Amino acid sequence: MNAPPRPWLDATMPVPDRVAALLAAMTLEEKVAQVHQVANPAPDDVGGFGTCIVASGEHAGNVRDAGTQARSVNALQRRAVEGTRLGIPLIVARDVIHGHRTVFPIPLGQAASFDADLVRECARVAAREATADGVRWTFAPMLDVAQDPRWGRIAESWGEDAWLAAHLGAAAVEGFQGGPDGGRLDQPDAMAACAKHYVGYGLAQGGRDYAEVDVGPHVLQNRHLRPFRAVVDAGVATVMSAFHTIDTVPMTGHTALLGDHLKGDLGFAGPVVSDWDAVGELRQHGVAADLADAARLALGAGIDIDMVSEAFATHLVDLVRAGVVPEAQLDDAVRRVLALKFRLGLFEDPWTPEDRAASVQLTDAHRALARRAAASAVVLLRNDGTLPLRPGLRRIHVTGPFATARAELFGTWTLDGRAEDAGTIADAVRERYTAPGTEVTVDDHRFGDETLVRAREADLVVACVGEHPLRSGEANSVTSLDLPAGQVEALEALARVSRRLVVVVLTGRPLALERLAHLGSAVVLAFHPGIEGGHGIADVLSGDVPPSGRLPSSLPWTTGQVPLHHDQLPTGRPLDPDGDVGRYRDHRDTPAYPFGFGLGYADVAYGEVQLSRPVLAPGDVVELSVQVTNAGAEHAALETVQLYARAHRAAVSRPVSELVGVRRVALAPGETRRVAFELDRTTLSRRDARGDLRLEPGLFTLQVGPHAGAGPTITLEVTAAP
Ligand code: BGC
Repeated sequence: MNAPPRPWLDATMPVPDRVAALLAAMTLEEKVAQVHQVANPAPDDVGGFGTCIVASGEHAGNVRDAGTQARSVNALQRRAVEGTRLGIPLIVARDVIHGHRTVFPIPLGQAASFDADLVRECARVAAREATADGVRWTFAPMLDVAQDPRWGRIAESWGEDAWLAAHLGAAAVEGFQGGPDGGRLDQPDAMAACAKHYVGYGLAQGGRDYAEVDVGPHVLQNRHLRPFRAVVDAGVATVMSAFHTIDTVPMTGHTALLGDHLKGDLGFAGPVVSDWDAVGELRQHGVAADLADAARLALGAGIDIDMVSEAFATHLVDLVRAGVVPEAQLDDAVRRVLALKFRLGLFEDPWTPEDRAASVQLTDAHRALARRAAASAVVLLRNDGTLPLRPGLRRIHVTGPFATARAELFGTWTLDGRAEDAGTIADAVRERYTAPGTEVTVDDHRFGDETLVRAREADLVVACVGEHPLRSGEANSVTSLDLPAGQVEALEALARVSRRLVVVVLTGRPLALERLAHLGSAVVLAFHPGIEGGHGIADVLSGDVPPSGRLPSSLPWTTGQVPLHHDQLPTGRPLDPDGDVGRYRDHRDTPAYPFGFGLGYADVAYGEVQLSRPVLAPGDVVELSVQVTNAGAEHAALETVQLYARAHRAAVSRPVSELVGVRRVALAPGETRRVAFELDRTTLSRRDARGDLRLEPGLFTLQVGPHAGAGPTITLEVTAAP
């Protein structure tokens, strides 16, 4: 008998027509298979699912597993393409969060670069490497705006600011998908990105993962939805809904935010995947009577793919046949999945060349990028002039639990990084200081007494402390933002005997470093820096690369201050910035280090701010400029010039500080450069409760400087639309 004609294989047909042709040929069972995602299928286990995730599923993101390879993906694909009636290819997904075999800094560390180009490049390389293993869909970027560092998933975020999350998130999407405007997904080294976790997950109460969220429409629109809107505009291929409830409604069943807002108002046309088992968890949330009810609720709300809960696979056929679920609802979900498969070019070429991984993974160029990214993530918090390390030091002692660490440099969600590929911080310092007469000694502080002897003998001690990756990431919250138990005491002992002590903090979250405020000579925050963390950190300590990292999250003095963020609303009783009295009786109200803060080795001076005109009228663009000068004579600077706005009056309260622009500028010693920003009405607008952009006439204070709350200011008048 002749094979049935497959008109959808005609690649000259527009995608919607191909989808329609295929959908028309599908049985109900075949449709349901497309919206069912399984985990780790065996190669002979095929036909009942349309996508799969390769994941250990144990202790999300913190257990390395065997991973996947082109050969196993091809075997699965062969069963799907050649062993099923319609031959619909699979999409293989995996959490490729901050690199694949080449591990980059955690997203929070990448955010410290404030550098969208760098983020885009890291995602591009991650896609190139992961697709060589047959993975064409990643569950990244995470766009949850995170203002509570107790929440372990802050490691996966771009920090506290929605503007930054929107810009870096969109850049990551472009990197994964291979270009702007949705990318070029049909290229074999491009993968579908997934904006997650829609929406508001960063507000988990008390920083307890999965806990309830309560948020009003203005904050939701301007803070939490903002990065999602940005990546939908950038053409993100997929979106993942979050685990939590928002104002009592579980996100997996949230019709107003999924079906109506995301797919309606925001116009998102791709598939929405549930989070892991979250459709089934509608029962635990207490809104679904059983798994069938959960399937009905989730599909009806706008979930198109059920990640592993089996609710869709087990119940949708019966629910449609019984008339409980309209087939049109299922068809819409299937259409979205099929369109993605067509866009990925899988019907034309579902295969992954089995020799590709060896030549594209962990190349010298990828390592070089990882090194640059690690250096860019380093934030210099304090320095008495000890850094950069001067040549001619007789003995440098490198110590601390991270001195000889490898895999621990990677951070959470590094499923494909291998410890043996990573160099240590100690090795990198040793490699850098090879001059005769300089000795680098190393220990990992297992025996604190021996460390003190070595420290006493050294000219300088580099102590590498911080959090183990298992302390951040999913389901890893903490109640205290202090360094882990015992580390401050060890540092205090070191400080007593060391001539100069440089503290390097490796972490998955912003920590409260009050006890390091006066300890040692310099404090450096490196986040979890990835596979080239050793080199990247040594590059900054040595001064080969100027420190350019800036805090993507305010650092509190103490845990009790959180949540803490620069874009707070004014109160009716503002604090006097120079006054002694704050609201906390036992501490200060302000952060230890504000959002955007980070020192360089050179002093950078800001001149007066100028506006091309003092009034922004409808249709206008105003240019704001400032001269920045490297006032030092010795060191290069890489300055992150930040522009903040404050509206004097609006219909609702607006934040005291809104980040509206960033420029990174390299300055040689003594060099002055003019840095310019273009402001139009969108730059200064806010969204109303429905999500419409609004700009009310009135005055704005614009501040340009090295971090939130610093730098020269100027006033701009916005006039009313005619
Ligand atoms: C996480 C997601 C992740 C998914 C698949 C879940 O536990 O919340 O971020 O993409 O697992 O691994």
